[in-house]
Amino acid sequence: MAEAGSFAEKVKQQADIVRVIGEYVRLKKTGQNFTGLCPFHQEKSPSFAVHPVKQIYHCFGCGAGGDVFKFVQEMDKCPFPEAIRIVAEKSGIPVPRPRERSPEEHRENQQRSALVEMHREAAVFFARQLNEGQEGKIAAGYLEDRGLNREAITRFGLGWAPSSGDALLRYLKSRYQEKLLEASGLFSRNESGRLYDRFRKRIMFPISNDSGKVIAFGGRAMGDDMPKYMNSPETPIYTKSNVLYHLDRAKEELRKSDFGVLVEGYMDAIAVARAGITNVVASCGTSLAEPQIKLLARFTHRVVVNYDPDTAGQVATERSLTLLLEKEFDVRVLALPGGADPDKFLKEQGAEAYRKLLAQAPPYLDYLIGRARQMDRTTAAGKVAALNFLMPYVQRLPNRLLRSEWATRIASELRVDEPVLREALKRAANERRSEVKPRAELLTPVVKPAERQLIRMLIEAGGFREKLAHELVSGALHRGLESEKILELLISKVGEAPDPTTLGAALEEKDRRLLFEILFETSGEATWESAESCLSVLRSRRDEAELAVLQQKIESKASPSELNRLLTQRLELQKKLAQR
Ligand code: UTP
Ligand code: MN
Repeated sequence: MAEAGSFAEKVKQQADIVRVIGEYVRLKKTGQNFTGLCPFHQEKSPSFAVHPVKQIYHCFGCGAGGDVFKFVQEMDKCPFPEAIRIVAEKSGIPVPRPRERSPEEHRENQQRSALVEMHREAAVFFARQLNEGQEGKIAAGYLEDRGLNREAITRFGLGWAPSSGDALLRYLKSRYQEKLLEASGLFSRNESGRLYDRFRKRIMFPISNDSGKVIAFGGRAMGDDMPKYMNSPETPIYTKSNVLYHLDRAKEELRKSDFGVLVEGYMDAIAVARAGITNVVASCGTSLAEPQIKLLARFTHRVVVNYDPDTAGQVATERSLTLLLEKEFDVRVLALPGGADPDKFLKEQGAEAYRKLLAQAPPYLDYLIGRARQMDRTTAAGKVAALNFLMPYVQRLPNRLLRSEWATRIASELRVDEPVLREALKRAANERRSEVKPRAELLTPVVKPAERQLIRMLIEAGGFREKLAHELVSGALHRGLESEKILELLISKVGEAPDPTTLGAALEEKDRRLLFEILFETSGEATWESAESCLSVLRSRRDEAELAVLQQKIESKASPSELNRLLTQRLELQKKLAQR
């Protein structure tokens, strides 16, 4: 919670929730609000709304809702302090530097900055070696043969690591201590303990983190030297599973277009980006790691997986699919014809042909059914294998109707008895870990318009909030209402400045959800007159309820004297009701 006077409160006041959420979700202005597709559940039509004035968001589908910090916490799966930092940075609010807790931490931070600087210098050095001397010219020629012109080389910062074995070392040695050189991953030690260049005789691909700082390299052998690619080892600034190649250049378009292309290699990412599809990232190597998926999820939840069509690529595709589906990505698969990887395909067929196939890339299940069809299904065992291959993916479909539709398709494709298949699916569904929202207990109760309007007034009607609260309490008008808990809370907090998030935090989830829903409705004018008319609706309802109780007592075993008293009471109530 953003405490008064805290940095969090300052950030919340200055940040614009529409802009921050707009970086994650494509929002459209609709009336006073902004709406878009909810990032917290799968949907085809928008039920996610952001309120620019109240600075809150709410999904009418799954019930997710809160303030800007809650949103970032949920999206980036990070704790509150981290969310404050992220929102502050996105809003251009300077973040007070956290005190480094120990001298050790201070040293580590300094080391990391120095390593980043060293990588920047190394990238400049490698770039300069292209065209330098005889081997530099050969290297440039190799790149040219592969269709990379000068503009592309500059754009992607490509370079050449000379064969000498100590070229980079000599270049950096005077400015960095040996310990730091060693920690950089750019050097190895020989038997006599001397440092030498790790990358020799290789085309160099700088690898950047998502803010565009070079933190590692991939080096490709020019001929058939092994390994084909040599990459930086893990260092204090580089964790392989946390990095997606080209993300720094892709992120804007990933958000804007709300989809991304996932490829295997450096050359693929470069080729696809050069074809004008800049929302491309490479996992660099076989399959995607979970942290890489989380990273991607910050920008989009829709990907087309376009791995190499070889066996390794297929296996990697299927492993990545599993992980992407677990994170509720909308996944399609592009398997290029002719055994080509994206780089090769683009070179041979051109950008137009690629774009066309990309647009037609089938949903992952279609791709998988295609794969299952390639399996041997002439024997019963073969059929079972094909089924076992497909089943786990079908189970991951969030929607029951969709699951059933796919079951029918799979049954006919594989010629399996449909009831058998459905039974297996049903069993599996029961075991499914994450059931789909919305959960029954989250369904909002039906609350009458008068209650809804009073709730809004208790928050928004600065002029008479307290008077209104007093009327409700003195008449016990909120008792027994669907929104009783909310009204009770608002009455008790009427002396404070109302903040939806703070209020929501004091409520049970279903009530918080109801409150947010009500806050998104347009209010009529908040006049005392309209408040009075809502109050009178509540008074009538209270009296009617009382009347019903009286009626029941009268009809049951009342003694003559008591009956008399009850009848008088009923008459009075009826009179009161008639006057309204
Ligand atoms: P590929 O073998 O498909 O290479 O590996 P590529 O990207 O198509 O490159 P070219 O066109 O042959 O030059 C795909 C990715 O896997 C990683 C690299 O990131 C590479 O781009 N890889 C591959 C390695 O890390 N080490 C290797 O030895 C091979
Ligand atoms: Mn390849």
